[in-house]
Amino acid sequence: MNIADSEKLAAGFTRLGLNETKTMDDATIVVINTCSIRQHAEDRAYSQLGRVRLQKEKRPDLKVAVMGCMVGPKTGDLKRRFPFVDTFARPQDFEPIIELIEGDENDLGGEFWPTTWSIPNGPTAYVPVVHGCDKFCTYCIVPYRRGRERSRPVNEIVREVNWLTNNGAREVTLLGQTVEAFGRDLNDSSEDSPDLGDLMRELSDLPELKRIRFLTSYPKHMTERILKAVADLPKVMECFSLPIQSGSDRILSEMRRGYELKEFREKINLVRSLMPDAGISTDIIVGYPGETEKDFQDSLDVLGEFRFDKVHIAAYSERPGTIAARTTTDDITAEEKSERLQRVEALSEQIGREKNEALLGSTQPVLIEGSRDDQFYGRTCSGKLVHIDVPVRIGEIVDVVIEHTGSYSLRGQPVDTLEALTI
Ligand code: 5AD
Ligand code: SF4
Repeated sequence: MNIADSEKLAAGFTRLGLNETKTMDDATIVVINTCSIRQHAEDRAYSQLGRVRLQKEKRPDLKVAVMGCMVGPKTGDLKRRFPFVDTFARPQDFEPIIELIEGDENDLGGEFWPTTWSIPNGPTAYVPVVHGCDKFCTYCIVPYRRGRERSRPVNEIVREVNWLTNNGAREVTLLGQTVEAFGRDLNDSSEDSPDLGDLMRELSDLPELKRIRFLTSYPKHMTERILKAVADLPKVMECFSLPIQSGSDRILSEMRRGYELKEFREKINLVRSLMPDAGISTDIIVGYPGETEKDFQDSLDVLGEFRFDKVHIAAYSERPGTIAARTTTDDITAEEKSERLQRVEALSEQIGREKNEALLGSTQPVLIEGSRDDQFYGRTCSGKLVHIDVPVRIGEIVDVVIEHTGSYSLRGQPVDTLEALTI
């Protein structure tokens, strides 16, 4: 979501006649887009701000803005800590930044900044479709910083995606903190509202658009209707990012995730019965306050049971202002968190390796996304990263025979190249 916000701001700057500079030395404005999901993310922003401060000391006319989730409703604290920052902007509130650069006073952004679409810098693009989050999981800062769920109108999204494909995008990833919440707030009753499947159906009609992805999923909102749309629509990739957060019902309830393991299992079973080859990744938090060795073992057990393709693991990080910060004590030591994190990592690496090995020798349609150091890369339908050594055309879907597999990526050769070699 932050990448999408940064790209939108960059597109707005371009429209106002500003160009991107290679280094900060040549810039008239620096914007640091921040994330607050864990302390580590904030620490990275602080170190960037240290660099900016030095630059501002050298060049007092440099304009400095801080935007994103570190900017809460009250900026007093930030202002005291970083007096050299000229303005602070909450997530997707571009107005203070446009004012700082004395941009178009008739177009200061506004909610979702509908007049400005980002310029794709390759064949893939992110498209936020629902902003904010209403779930208030106890550990999470997002609802406090990104506000309540608000969906964008379907026709506006279709226009944006059409524009993106006219500018070279071939794949879009529809974004929401809980993306299946899309549409629920658009009409008076959720029964008459469009859902994510309806949006996917509309987007599927765009001829230049080849692939549609979506994230992040929330088990309770993943209806059979949406899942059937994913299964039925050929352009929608069968690839899910479905956070479980914990394998212990006790911790899930403490976290107020709104589901028990039984319901999560039913959703995974439904996905896999409709789409046996679907890729499913998850997020897990280790060291939530009060997490016992038994709770942690439950998390290891579910990872063994569900065999996700990829697991994003995070050590619990207390976020001031959240329910957990107000009502619990961050009582698992840093050493214990780190040990649990490593145990999850080892297990998920092994499962990832085994799952990828099963793809050895198979042919996968890969959308080529770009190249780095003479190597091309792209993704399979289920979201696996594939490296290719021979030149392929960026933006095309190429059939690739998988020749090597690792825990996190695959390597292969296009069918066409292999056929040419055997002739
Ligand atoms: N501490 C650790 N991890 C967190 N996440 C969200 N909030 C916290 C926190 N306070 C993780 C969740 C979420 C992912 C984006 O970040 O696993 O799914
Ligand atoms: Fe945070 Fe996701 Fe829970 Fe929303 S659903 S509060 S974004 S963890």
